Amino acid sequence: MKGIGFAFFALGVLCALIGMAWGIQMSATANHALSPAHAHLNLIGWVTMALMGAYYTLTPAAASTRLAKIHLALTTAGVIIIVPGIVMALTQQGETAAKIGSVLTIAGMICFGVNVLRHGLGAKTAP
Ligand code: HEM
Repeated sequence: MKGIGFAFFALGVLCALIGMAWGIQMSATANHALSPAHAHLNLIGWVTMALMGAYYTLTPAAASTRLAKIHLALTTAGVIIIVPGIVMALTQQGETAAKIGSVLTIAGMICFGVNVLRHGLGAKTAP
């Protein structure tokens, strides 16, 4: 088992690859209409998830909790739903998916905040 830090980084890299390919496609077609969705895929999916992965790698006590797994599930579901949700909102197809994705994403961040407050930063060292 490679751990929760690895899972956050692996999913983050996947989001970055899709987000960057999307950016290249936007540039090549000179159609930037969906750039807010591209930005959220890169910023939540890549930047935020990589930061979370770095935290869990530095803080093994937090990484081994059930809350960390719930956090990973909520954040992953959040990205998967919010990005198409933003596309739908931008193309006048409704805002429900964007709203659901937003709630999942903030719920993940709340789990992260609780883990940070409970476990602090870094590996515990013997006194
Ligand atoms: C191969 C890499 C990338 C390419 C080719 C690319 C391309 C683009 C393009 C064409 C736009 C629209 C610009 C405009 O309409 O003015 C854009 C917007 C944006 N991109 Fe990227 N991008 C890339 C990677 C990233 C990454 C890694 C991030 C964040 C970590 C990012 C964040 C943003 C943001 C915040 C915007 C502005 C969105 C908005 O104003 O609604 N991009 N990108």
